[in-house]
Amino acid sequence: MNRHMTSHMPPHLAPHIPPSDASPEPPHAAPRAALGAAFAAVRAETERRAAPLSAEEQVIQSMPDASPVKWHRAHTTWFFEQFVLAEYAPGYVPFDPRFGFLFNSYYVAAGPRHERPKRGLITRPSVAEVGDYRAHVDAAMRRLIAEADAALFAALAPVVAIGLNHEQQHQELMLTDILHALAQNPLLPAYDPDWTMPGTRRASGMGEMRAMPEGLHRIGHAGAGFAYDNEGPAHRVLLPATRIAPALVTNADWMAFMEAGGYQDPLLWLSEGWAAVEAGGWEAPLYWRWQDGRGQDGRGQGGRGQDGGWHAFGLAGLKPVDPQAPVCHVSYYEADAFARFAGRALPTEQAFEVAAHQGLLDDAFGVVWQWTRSAYAAYPGYRAEPGALGEYNGKFMVNQMVLRGAALATPDGHARLTYRNFFHPHQRWQFTGLRLADETA
Ligand SMILES: [Fe+2]
Repeated sequence: MNRHMTSHMPPHLAPHIPPSDASPEPPHAAPRAALGAAFAAVRAETERRAAPLSAEEQVIQSMPDASPVKWHRAHTTWFFEQFVLAEYAPGYVPFDPRFGFLFNSYYVAAGPRHERPKRGLITRPSVAEVGDYRAHVDAAMRRLIAEADAALFAALAPVVAIGLNHEQQHQELMLTDILHALAQNPLLPAYDPDWTMPGTRRASGMGEMRAMPEGLHRIGHAGAGFAYDNEGPAHRVLLPATRIAPALVTNADWMAFMEAGGYQDPLLWLSEGWAAVEAGGWEAPLYWRWQDGRGQDGRGQGGRGQDGGWHAFGLAGLKPVDPQAPVCHVSYYEADAFARFAGRALPTEQAFEVAAHQGLLDDAFGVVWQWTRSAYAAYPGYRAEPGALGEYNGKFMVNQMVLRGAALATPDGHARLTYRNFFHPHQRWQFTGLRLADETA
């Protein structure tokens, strides 16, 4: 199960991501056989990730931010039904016309939808019926891709490409969401007992820094290859002289921050961050728990047979914190406080992209998403696509922070140099870490 998420970094991600202008041909420029193959592969990967999970595990929703695995499987299917089949397949009969209400996420232009925090209350359709839904849509999609005439194929292929990239995003969310759900179980069941944290385990992220002189750089997506609309237009930026750490901040670095009282010193924190520390009782990254060596973790929950010290719950279950592994499951607020503690800053997203393009960064992709101190906003000249698909990225461009790179759960083929992930600054259930930088005016 999930072999590609074990100890190695996905080979296509390491050690080099090609610049955006060297990306492979996009699916919509490739023959229909290639699009059909890409469709089959992405749909199969979703099922592969769901396969280890029981029906009970596929229904549970542990918080409003997370969605049930069954919902992810159905919602990604609805996306193709709504935006491809209903649009381009004449005479297509929906599997169940009520599913649009259940499985629309946030597309206001596509109609009313079920409340997000109540997705875990949907016991019917069952997991098996969602499997049938997927099969119904897969068959219709296969037929459409094979039989569409040239003009129709040219029109639908870019939408299918968005649907496939959309489903890959949900593949990552399936793992972050089920991890959060499994963490609520006192028995701490493992998603995959053989899973290990990837990463090249270099030196501390507090150590070496690499220099980039002040200069003009082009960032953002241009040319061939798929990208989301928020990655463009490509444009020039003036980067101040910047130093950036080649290594990710490690658990050992983070424990030094904790031991120095980092979670107890309000002077290190943004005001909203300190409020989050107090409200959430934060004293360590999400999923960390202290084991006193006698099988108790201070909250009275079991951990029989565990050694003492800090442990972290991950996809492989509860394990001792590995000091050399990159820190994971920290919020923007924590990353920001850590950088202040270290006398440094988080990189801007522009500095990250330039440094990654120049090959200055280790573990830039495939380990943890890395918080930047850039607010998620439109690039100069950005215009959202017309219609419901224009809701994909543009309407979220306020009050969130950009993360760069890609994480261990990001599917093969989904990472890009220009990729802009974004989350709210308090959120920490994603696979989120950091690297340090500083710059001179
Ligand atoms: Fe979605």
